[in-house]
Amino acid sequence: MKIVKVKDYEEMSDKVCELFIDRLTALKNPVFGLATGSTPKGLYKRLVQRYNKGKISFDHATFFNLDEYIGLDQNHPSSYAYYMKNKLYNHINVSSEQIHIPNGKAKDLKKECDRYEQLIRDANYIDLQILGIGINGHIGFNEPGTPFDSRTDVVQLTNSTIKVNSRFFNSIEEVPNEAITMGIGTIMDSKEIVMLISGEHKSKALQQTIYGEVTENFPASILQTHENVTIIADAAAFGE
Ligand code: F6R
Repeated sequence: MKIVKVKDYEEMSDKVCELFIDRLTALKNPVFGLATGSTPKGLYKRLVQRYNKGKISFDHATFFNLDEYIGLDQNHPSSYAYYMKNKLYNHINVSSEQIHIPNGKAKDLKKECDRYEQLIRDANYIDLQILGIGINGHIGFNEPGTPFDSRTDVVQLTNSTIKVNSRFFNSIEEVPNEAITMGIGTIMDSKEIVMLISGEHKSKALQQTIYGEVTENFPASILQTHENVTIIADAAAFGE
């Protein structure tokens, strides 16, 4: 694992943005895996700023999101599809064919998961996967106890994740308790992974990810076994 320690959230976002743009320009047809939540907002903001300055183009890239809530329409303001359109896709030069997000409203959810896996395989896997981390070690929506070889599937969210994510909803009752997520095996197929960790509340998770036992009880610990992982974390996440 390569560990990059930065001062704060802004510097973390600057660093990941540079790395992202480097892959965007270096690769002929880059395939990106993206996360939602609070952590990557600074990255998306910077990518839009750079695009507006006319410095970069996304016309040759493909995007796969990690996850989506079950039951939320893509126009629901708390859906991850809405988040992505709002934070990034509506502001850059991408067409709908370049963007992939699991459909949480699919009639046949199992079929939707298989379709998503196949799309990632057809794209020859993800070149750069951006990850955040849950305080319980989840990656995507793979909660503690998920087998390391899991593939894209329907999963149950833990009470702790529902509580933490209720900040994106009007009330905790509105938070779906199921989601579709790329599996841990799917994420580990990525050629490169960058995990972003910011804030004091993530410091235990950071320690366990980098130094803890590799165990299914703490999903992010599997990253220790991937050959191309960078963790960019700020001083607060390092407990300073
Ligand atoms: C989001 C995702 C989650 C988040 C994690 C951290 O697509 O897959 O694993 O990365 O819950 O969320 P934040 O960044 O809001 O702390």
